[in-house]
Amino acid sequence: MSQSHIFILMIVIPLSFSQSATGKECVCDLKNLDPPFPKDELTKVETAVLKCIGSITSEKMTDLDRLVLGLQQRIKQLEDDVVMLEKANSNLYAAVSLRIIELEFGEIQDLLNKLNRTTSDYHHQGVQAAAQLDDMKGAMVELEKFDKMQVIKKYRENQMKKTLEQCKDELKASSPPPTASPGRCGLGQMVNVAGPRTSSITPYSTSYAYGAWGRDMKPAPGDENKYWLVVLTSSNVYGYYVRQYSTLSTLLLGLGLKDTYISNSNPTTNTIQGPNMVMYSNALYYNCYNTYSVCRFNMTTRAISTVALPSDTGYNNKFPFGHLATSYSYTDMDFATDESGVYVIYGTTSNFGNVVISKIETSNPPVLGQTWKTSLYKITATNTFMVCGVLYATRYLDKETEQIFYSYDTKTNKERYDLKIKFKKMQTNIEFLNYDPRDHLLYVYSDAYILTYELIFQ
Ligand SMILES: *[C@@H]1O[C@H](CO)[C@@H](O)[C@H](O)[C@H]1NC(C)=O
Ligand SMILES: *[C@@H]1O[C@H](CO)[C@@H](O)[C@H](O)[C@H]1NC(C)=O
Repeated sequence: MSQSHIFILMIVIPLSFSQSATGKECVCDLKNLDPPFPKDELTKVETAVLKCIGSITSEKMTDLDRLVLGLQQRIKQLEDDVVMLEKANSNLYAAVSLRIIELEFGEIQDLLNKLNRTTSDYHHQGVQAAAQLDDMKGAMVELEKFDKMQVIKKYRENQMKKTLEQCKDELKASSPPPTASPGRCGLGQMVNVAGPRTSSITPYSTSYAYGAWGRDMKPAPGDENKYWLVVLTSSNVYGYYVRQYSTLSTLLLGLGLKDTYISNSNPTTNTIQGPNMVMYSNALYYNCYNTYSVCRFNMTTRAISTVALPSDTGYNNKFPFGHLATSYSYTDMDFATDESGVYVIYGTTSNFGNVVISKIETSNPPVLGQTWKTSLYKITATNTFMVCGVLYATRYLDKETEQIFYSYDTKTNKERYDLKIKFKKMQTNIEFLNYDPRDHLLYVYSDAYILTYELIFQ
């Protein structure tokens, strides 16, 4: 570390000040021994960023709105930060800005990759932007060499230390976590998620990335061991039949199935939209095609009852689950079962796209029961489930790890954002997640894999 250089970049011009009271004068004359800060390079980066923004905003906004918007906002942010970095080159210019810019590059790269993957229309542009980004990255690496004060290195070291300490703390804190889950339903605090206990690809192999599965939470006598599986056969959005198996092993082997059709075609009135459905008392509860309504499909009579949610409820991919720039398509409505019945979890405009929970009374006809409004922004969660009247939300940490981070207690209306219960994923995305109060397992549909995890209570 060249400590001798430490102030050279801070004071690059002769500096003088006078003390009029005494009439004495001090003059400091510091020489900059280093090459001057390459302002031109910075300007080039800035211009490239501007060009990048220009070419992207000129594109027609399509269904890629969200992705492009995210990219735009980040590039705008990057631009602002580069400008600040430039203005601030006479003091601690490098300290935080360079690190932030580095992170922003990472995020932009990530978004660009997704953009590139999403459609061939944007292909050309994606390649161009990536090339520009590469150039900018190179330039920024050069600029980073001017970090004579080693602030970035120090910052990184500190970050690493912090992460290690956090890691230690989390290990210590892993039992008990800060969840004040009440001792209802004869269960203590939820302390851990173990597993996966079972893991298998669906009998459809990798054909369908979106789907749902589980058991009937309130089975008719004789149906206790039955399993159901629904795959979204059209565009990862729509499904039109329910497949049932007599046991878990027949499901895993793909034997002895029975299909019950909601409709003959897909999608059409009352077919399934989105993956987050549940089976309760021999009826399937789901978001039906192109409406803000809950549909209940009677597996015996194939009759359908509907319950309308508030008219500002998000549907057709308005308030889906998601993470960063990805949303899980058409996950506007999530159904959940716990010890006390069926709930629907959704977002409304009047609640700013935040999660709303409604009980569904499973009477005949079904009706909307009590409703709770939360502050959880729906798109920041991957999925939710309910245990003993408490809603839990998970979020994406990385490809291998999901974390239960949030809870809302419908008895006390208390919310928490500080839960830190992690579990290992086998695949990147979770399209469906639900709790079965009969076996305390979480049933998960993850990129064509079906898994169970065990919830551990204190
Ligand atoms: C975008 O995708 C194409 C083909 O799918 C690939 O050749 C190219 O390298 C990708 N560009 C980036 C920036 O990932
Ligand atoms: C399904 O229909 C049957 C026959 O009408 C009825 O007995 C049963 O209660 C219905 N199930 C639900 C969940 O409505």
